[in-house]
Amino acid sequence: MSDIELMKDFSLDYFRLDGKAAIVTGANKGLGMGYALALAKAGADIFLPYRSGDISEVRSLIEAEGRRVEFLQGDLTDIEHVRAIVSGCMEAYGRIDVLVNNAGTNCFCDFADFPDEGYLRVINTNLNSVYFLSHEVSRVMIAQRSGKIINIGSALSYTADERCPSYVAAKHGVIGLTRAFANELGKYNIQTNAVCPGFIETGVTAGVTSDSDFTGRITRRISAGRWGTLADIMGTIVFLASRASDYLNGSDIKVDGGFSTKLV
Ligand SMILES: NC(=O)c1ccc[n+]([C@@H]2O[C@H](COP(=O)([O-])OP(=O)(O)OC[C@H]3O[C@@H](n4cnc5c(N)ncnc54)[C@H](OP(=O)(O)O)[C@@H]3O)[C@@H](O)[C@H]2O)c1
Repeated sequence: MSDIELMKDFSLDYFRLDGKAAIVTGANKGLGMGYALALAKAGADIFLPYRSGDISEVRSLIEAEGRRVEFLQGDLTDIEHVRAIVSGCMEAYGRIDVLVNNAGTNCFCDFADFPDEGYLRVINTNLNSVYFLSHEVSRVMIAQRSGKIINIGSALSYTADERCPSYVAAKHGVIGLTRAFANELGKYNIQTNAVCPGFIETGVTAGVTSDSDFTGRITRRISAGRWGTLADIMGTIVFLASRASDYLNGSDIKVDGGFSTKLV
């Protein structure tokens, strides 16, 4: 196609996900629920692995968009569950177009007392499960010769904070995996990118946001002057899942209202 034809061909349909199947881990609550709903609004059917809790709300939100959602309960640190996610999604939809590695956990403790269990649990959940699930999914995507892997990092993918060394290590590692997958899988038309949310208000951060001293210090560093919301981040997920981002590979996108660009 000529340049003119290419430009004329471009439309907002490039952001549509009709006919696509997306796996979003840990999406029955928090940010993941927003990601799953965003992908459904763009037209994708959703496969939703979750560990515990209520699935009725996310089910009704996705079904209200006229999309399908299938659930599988399990622990992402269990390789059998990871394999069952891939076979479950293939059984349900016959393809895997998008993987969002969203599920995550944390452990806070002074370094001297930091529990070995907490260190390993966070590394296994936030880093190793990203590797193992992406590894399994990549085989399907390689056969399809297409796919999008979206890893969820953090502000702590770039810097460290006190009392959470395992989270810092895992989230730095997620950026490394993103680049490694991009290098390995780009030739199969599979793009891997990371989204690094800044401070986003969800049910989980409610405890933190009620600490006005901490909130004040953080908010002063956010040039947007406020914490993020789920709606602030949903569009980035749709973009990275869609044809509109086909030439983006190995990138990490900070959705943080400017937090990371300020020194103090
Ligand atoms: N909220 C923020 O401001 C923010 C900022 C930066 C990055 N992030 C990242 O964004 C992601 C989602 O965060 P969130 O705030 O939405 O957290 P959240 O509400 O706590 O949700 C985390 C989800 O991950 C699941 N999960 C945890 N460990 C699991 C395991 N071993 N196996 C399967 N599922 C597991 C949880 O299941 P259970 O309900 O069973 O625990 C839950 O569904 C995380 O990767 C987090 O690090 C969040």
